[in-house]
Amino acid sequence: MRIDVVTIFPEYLAPLDLSLIGKARRDDLLDLAIHDLRQFTHDRHNTVDDTPYGGGAGMVMKPQPWAEALTHVGGLASGAPRLLVPAPSGRPFTQEYARALAEAEWLAFACGRYEGIDERVYAYAADALGWEVVPVSLGDYVLGGGEVAVLAMVEAIARLIPGVVGNEESLVEESHEGGLLEYPVYTKPATWLPQPPAAAAATAYDVPATLLSGNHKAIADWRHQQRLERTVARRPDLLEAAATVTGLEDLEGG
Ligand code: ADE
Repeated sequence: MRIDVVTIFPEYLAPLDLSLIGKARRDDLLDLAIHDLRQFTHDRHNTVDDTPYGGGAGMVMKPQPWAEALTHVGGLASGAPRLLVPAPSGRPFTQEYARALAEAEWLAFACGRYEGIDERVYAYAADALGWEVVPVSLGDYVLGGGEVAVLAMVEAIARLIPGVVGNEESLVEESHEGGLLEYPVYTKPATWLPQPPAAAAATAYDVPATLLSGNHKAIADWRHQQRLERTVARRPDLLEAAATVTGLEDLEGG
């Protein structure tokens, strides 16, 4: 997959060199390029914003640098990217949408700042460049700009590209796959006494006995029950979608 990101803060995207995404790039599973919008300005101050028509607070990103940046990106490979524009007014970014985007050959992200990007840029990308333009929101809150949203979305998408996550089984039972939240996990030791003890009466914490039983069926049942209970407690809104998952009836009774 190819991903291009246009931003006025290229340094904000530095974490995309690290960990899973960094390795995916080194393994040539992901071709990621970050572009500085200011390189597509022509004045001494590298101006990217101006006051909004109609008045109001804040500044709006000017159309010309964006048009030049997107045209430049469009020339970097054959075909056309899907242009994702992080914005609180966008369509919700979900695990399901991440799965769909992970199948794309080419994605581009336009990181807005201030009050947003002049709306004509989207018309230009669609009409002049022939790109599909999709505003996407990380959630119902307002960030300072699109960069943090891009970090989250690129990570969510890239880990679904075949080969990026070593053990693909680990993708199956995590939260938002199968409509339920993930089950709790534990590692050694089986009985853990925190050191140094925080209080005079030190307490030991045990791993649930079922996980130590070696009984695979009992472990699978326990984990499924945990997923259901967590979803009921934390995200009851997800349960309508999960109504077909076996075992739900047990919980509805209690
Ligand atoms: N930019 C500002 N707020 C955002 C949000 N909630 N999601 C995506 N991009 C944003």
